[in-house]
Amino acid sequence: MSLLGRDVIAVRDLSRDDIEEVLAASKRMIPYAEGRKSSTLLEGKILVLAFFEPSTRTRLSFDSAMQRLGGRTITIADPASTSVRKGETLHDTIRMISQYGDAVVLRHPNEGAARLAAKVSERPVVNAGDGAGQHPTQTLLDLATILEACGTLSGLKVVLLGDLRHGRTVHSLAYALALFGSQIVLVSPPTLRLPEEVRTQLDELGAKVVDEMPLPQAVRDADVLYVTRIQRERFGDDAEYAKVVGSYRVDLALLAKAKPRLIVMHPLPRTVEIAPEVDATPHAAYFRQAFQAVPVRMALLALLLKGSAK
Ligand code: NCD
Repeated sequence: MSLLGRDVIAVRDLSRDDIEEVLAASKRMIPYAEGRKSSTLLEGKILVLAFFEPSTRTRLSFDSAMQRLGGRTITIADPASTSVRKGETLHDTIRMISQYGDAVVLRHPNEGAARLAAKVSERPVVNAGDGAGQHPTQTLLDLATILEACGTLSGLKVVLLGDLRHGRTVHSLAYALALFGSQIVLVSPPTLRLPEEVRTQLDELGAKVVDEMPLPQAVRDADVLYVTRIQRERFGDDAEYAKVVGSYRVDLALLAKAKPRLIVMHPLPRTVEIAPEVDATPHAAYFRQAFQAVPVRMALLALLLKGSAK
């Protein structure tokens, strides 16, 4: 099935073929994403960026991706400046703003918001993060980063470290890794384990999942170490956050016994979970990962809005 006109709400809405199509197109987009070549593929198209939660990379990379392809963007970056402030519902906001462009990229604090938006939107909706739910386009760029560094998405050992309970990037990524047949090792503080429903989805895919081994042991034969921050904004009270903050940290001592080709990834922003000393090592892949946001989102937008990225 072509991606033209589809909504992208969760990774499980995408087939392996869909994902492979985006990744192949993304590779071809790299010279355009770097500004070495120019394109008018999406000239005349308007992308609505509706961000009801803070964002740096996701919003700017969607904006850059659209503009690199000759399209334009209109943006809600500060919900306090919109009629939401006057009590407008998400339903009404989406129904209306979807008429102002050719697709809507939505980030919202409520889990399920993007699915709801897709029901009322007249145009394709892309989920750019719904609370502690899903973040499928982050997964696409995570996969592009892994593929570029490791040459494959199958048969790898990937450690997911950190706040697996609230981290939407890991919810989406775990599903994709299972789809491609990589092994998943979960390492988190005991109160921040992967939610049951995500585990169930992995089991249904027949995923190879290993639980909670000590971090140094998990890192020793890993190909990818995917680190996440503790999602402070999802905690009801700060005392709970204070109990877990700083409970894990990736530094040179931890990486001393890792495989030379291990890559350390992070969706960013980082807080304290990766020591800055790691940045200068060949393991650090997180800044390249942040760059991949542009070609991957270019590929996805082209496929959604034109049905082709050529
Ligand atoms: C992530 C998010 O918003 O879920 N950031 C991002 O999109 N790169 C991760 C995070 O905020 O920790």
